[in-house]
Amino acid sequence: MRPVRKAVLPVAGLGTRVLPGAKNTPKEMLNVVDRPILSYIVAEGRAAGIEHFVFVTGRGKEAIEDYFDHHPELESQLEAKGKLEMLEEIRAELPRPGEMSFVRQMAPLGLGHAVWCARDVIGDEPFAVMLPDMLMDAKVPALKQAVDAYNQVGGNIIAVEPCPPGEAHKYGIVALDGHEGRLNRMTGMVEKPAPGTEPSNLFISGRYILQPEIFKLLAAQQKGAGGEIQLTDAMARLMAVESFHALEYDGVTYDCGDKIGLLRANVAFALKRPDLGAEARAAIMKLL
Ligand code: G1P
Repeated sequence: MRPVRKAVLPVAGLGTRVLPGAKNTPKEMLNVVDRPILSYIVAEGRAAGIEHFVFVTGRGKEAIEDYFDHHPELESQLEAKGKLEMLEEIRAELPRPGEMSFVRQMAPLGLGHAVWCARDVIGDEPFAVMLPDMLMDAKVPALKQAVDAYNQVGGNIIAVEPCPPGEAHKYGIVALDGHEGRLNRMTGMVEKPAPGTEPSNLFISGRYILQPEIFKLLAAQQKGAGGEIQLTDAMARLMAVESFHALEYDGVTYDCGDKIGLLRANVAFALKRPDLGAEARAAIMKLL
C-alpha cells in the first residue's frame, strides 16, 4: 500500500464566525492557550507520519508562512536573555527545509476547489486532508488513527463523529453499510442535508485520507451545497469506483472556527497542560 506522506491544509477561509479577531489575523493563527491552532494541527500531522504539508492559503494569510520560519530578531533576543527553553520550543516546530508548500486559492470557491489547488504538489499518491478549524484532542492523534485505518483497509478514509441533534444540516453526513465497531464501509455521503433527510448521525469531522483520483473529479468544478465546489460531492462520485470507510475516531473535537468552540478548546487544553493546569483550574473556578 502506498504510504500517506503529504497533507493538504485548507487555510484560505475568512473566519467570519470568529470576527473581529480574524479580521487581520488568520483564524488558524488564533491562540489556543499559548500557540496558534495550526501549531497543534501540524504536530498532529507529524505524529501521523506526514512529511510534507501543503497549505492552501489566500490573501492576508502571510502570518502562517512567517510562523513556520525563523524570526531572527526574536531568536537572538531570547538567546541574549537566556530564555533557552522557549527558544528551543520555537525552533523545534520549524519545518525541515522544504517540508512545507504554500499555494494560493485565489477565490473562495469551496473546500473542493481548495483541495484541487494542491493537486500539482500532491501528485499521484494518497494524501491526507486536515481541516484546521477542527482541533482534535485524542490519545492517539486523530490523523494517526485515520492512517492506521488506511493501512488496514486501504482506499479512502473519512474521520466521522456523532452529530449533536439538529445540527446535521451544517456538515457533511455519511451513510454506512452496516454499523459495527469504529471502522465501517460507506455507501454514500451528502453535504449539508436538509433537516430530516440525513442518512445517519455521523458527520465528516475534518480528517481525510484520499486517493489522488479525487483530483480528476474535482477538476469538473461542479457546484453543490451553498453554490460551492464541495469535496463531499467529489468523494461521493469517487465512491462509485473506490472504497470509502468511515472511521469513528476516538477523541474530542473542538470547532475553533466558532467562538464558543474556540473558548472550549482554550479551557480544555489549558486544564490539560502539566505546567498550567492547576492555575487554570483555580482561575476558572473563581470565575464560576
Ligand atoms: C466542511 C465540509 C463538511 C464537514 C465540515 C467539518 O464544511 O464540507 O463536510 O463536515 O467541514 O467542519 P464547512 O465547515 O466548510 O461548511
